[in-house]
Amino acid sequence: MKKLPLSIAATLAFAGILPISAAKMQTSRDSEIEKNVWELIAKMTLDEKIGQLNQLSGWGYHPQMTAQIRSGMVGSLLNEVDPVTVNRLQKVAVDSTRLGIPLIFARDVIHGYKTIFPIPLGQAATWDYDIVKEGARISADEASSAGIRWTFSPMLDVARDARWGRIAEGFGEDTYLTNYLGQAMIHGYQGDDLSDPSTMAACAKHFAAYGAAESGRDYNTTWVPEQLLRDVYLPPFKGAVEAGAETFMCSFNDINGVPSSGNKWLLKDVLRDEWGFDGLMVSDWGSIQQMIPHGYSKDLRQAAEQAANAGVDMDMEGYAYIGNLKDLVAKGEVKEATVDSLVANVLRTKYRLGLFENPYVDEKRMNRYFLPASLEAAQKCAEEAAILLTNNGVLPINNKQVKKIAVIGPMADAAHDQNGTWCFDLEKERTITPLAALTKKYGKKNVAYAKGLPHTRSESQEGFDEALATAKNSDIVLYFCGEEAVLSGEAHSRADISLPGAQTELLRQLKATGKPVVMIVMAGRPLTLPEEKELADAILFNFHPGTMGGPALTALLSGDANPSGRLPVSMPFMSGQEPYYYNRKNTGRPAQGMTLMKDIELEAGQTSTGCTSYYLDAGDGALFPFGYGLSYTTFEYSAPTLSASEIDPDGALTVTCEITNTGSREGTEVAQLYVRDLVGSYIRPIRELKGFERVTLAPGESRTLTFTLPASELSFFGPDGKFIVEPGDFQLWVAPDCVSGSPVDFKVVASK
Ligand code: NOJ
Repeated sequence: MKKLPLSIAATLAFAGILPISAAKMQTSRDSEIEKNVWELIAKMTLDEKIGQLNQLSGWGYHPQMTAQIRSGMVGSLLNEVDPVTVNRLQKVAVDSTRLGIPLIFARDVIHGYKTIFPIPLGQAATWDYDIVKEGARISADEASSAGIRWTFSPMLDVARDARWGRIAEGFGEDTYLTNYLGQAMIHGYQGDDLSDPSTMAACAKHFAAYGAAESGRDYNTTWVPEQLLRDVYLPPFKGAVEAGAETFMCSFNDINGVPSSGNKWLLKDVLRDEWGFDGLMVSDWGSIQQMIPHGYSKDLRQAAEQAANAGVDMDMEGYAYIGNLKDLVAKGEVKEATVDSLVANVLRTKYRLGLFENPYVDEKRMNRYFLPASLEAAQKCAEEAAILLTNNGVLPINNKQVKKIAVIGPMADAAHDQNGTWCFDLEKERTITPLAALTKKYGKKNVAYAKGLPHTRSESQEGFDEALATAKNSDIVLYFCGEEAVLSGEAHSRADISLPGAQTELLRQLKATGKPVVMIVMAGRPLTLPEEKELADAILFNFHPGTMGGPALTALLSGDANPSGRLPVSMPFMSGQEPYYYNRKNTGRPAQGMTLMKDIELEAGQTSTGCTSYYLDAGDGALFPFGYGLSYTTFEYSAPTLSASEIDPDGALTVTCEITNTGSREGTEVAQLYVRDLVGSYIRPIRELKGFERVTLAPGESRTLTFTLPASELSFFGPDGKFIVEPGDFQLWVAPDCVSGSPVDFKVVASK
């Protein structure tokens, strides 16, 4: 029998249609919850059911809000974060509604609640499961102490276009890395037992393909053939179901002409029936209503009908269900059984969170903010997230020779901006900036500060003289630049992803002082830095690093810590290369012997450049490739050894590779396993990440790393509409980034 999702199976079981044993009950607690859910639904009026599907944004304890809760019109509140108010509102739901069903309080806790961790793209640069999980655990501990038991995170949208402002919120361009770190975050938020009051329900969002927004413009349409959807955009969401993500959020965009909020194929056929998801699906903010401007629904009533029948359980701040579902049920356009199944998904999550037993924030647990261990973890994460892109030897700072440090730039002391996007609960005075941390480390008299530019977008050169004078009077210039927080995140896409304002001009003039210039970037996306690469003596690139950015960067610059971040996204030469991603296809005319624009002779023939696939101005490839990052030490890789030269489609390959620290200090390398399927019935990418390992080695130390590559990792969504592992020739690399290393061949052979 085909595996039924728990919710459907349980419904049938309790309706007596399926025997309980066939309903795949996992634990006695699951069965008890299922029983409670359906017994409660049996007692509910249609109005009470519809109320459970309504999520509103909180605005404190006000008569209008309490009246709505009391009348049973609210299932969840988002954005209410005062624990005392949370408890008072909860008391209205529990004590003054007919059935006493508790509310779930939700919030966008995206990269920390009070203690802010690096933005998710920065966390991705750590390639470190444990630190990402720990960050999420700390976020849950802090936020749940304010009464928040549901976060709208992680964002699992693979983003191949850095113009898209929301690239900041996810784990970058790669499916494997996004899936891996997304699961870490889910486990961190949810812990081992969701009913523990210090956990939060995770929300895998935005389902789906939101990151494929055409031309990187937020909310834009997406055209994604099913094979691309299945191979690239959906796997992290499937991984989220496997990791037990309690909730999902559907996306704003339409996919191939159908908005996600009304997409039955996506929300039911794939998510519930194929993958077995049995948690709660929330709309995005007003996304049901937005099917009207999309041109998919003629009015709010039709939008509500389409969303309910597609399987959106909860309407976030959209008033579509609350105003229309009753009439839709009365007219038979939405069956009451459909409403019941939506309500069951909401109630199931509330039971799993233990809200019926523990609806209130325990006063003894309130305000668990900025604990020393949380700050320590945030610093560790920010240290691991920093990517050393270039270094001519100027870093780490030679603490014996350098007496005077010039700290320049609009991001040196930007307590708000270094935290990046989605920091609703930021306490900016708790942020430690690089200026503060460097001053503490090196002493006030040794650190001179000039901002140079009032903010990152500024074109004003008024502050340049002071900055240049400060630079001239120093032994080294630390230039902190990048993007302010507001230049990335939702609705903040950029068509040009170069360093904004007059920041490059200031770099030119700083360089002209003859002093060594270290450029420390803090941004919400990869930036194009071709000229900066030539000008700066070193570039330490950070995606907004959060509360402890200052101490983390100071540790790295001073040599107390060694950079180990690796790019989770490619950095192209210029914006026009976007969408840019490493795991592209080869084309029939891969780049070869490129003649760039500057070298083309006058009146050269049309075919004189060789007619291969590259840009005349940007060439082929990235300025800094996916997976790339330097250390203060160096590493060497042996040629990888394979356990066999042939495997069958159900088999696995064991790959070993020895990594040696060939430098003079301890360092951490991220060894990456890539594969290529040379010939496929659908063309496969030139390389795909299939594994990696962080390894810390003492100077001179070698370690043999062992990767297991199951053949299933070689599968793709084939012409028959199924995942297949095709027999044939493959290549494999173990390398420090997506363009290095030499391939080793192996074959997949059909099972006999
Ligand atoms: C809209 C955003 O797209 C989503 O990510 C967020 O969780 C909701 N608003 C709630 O704030």
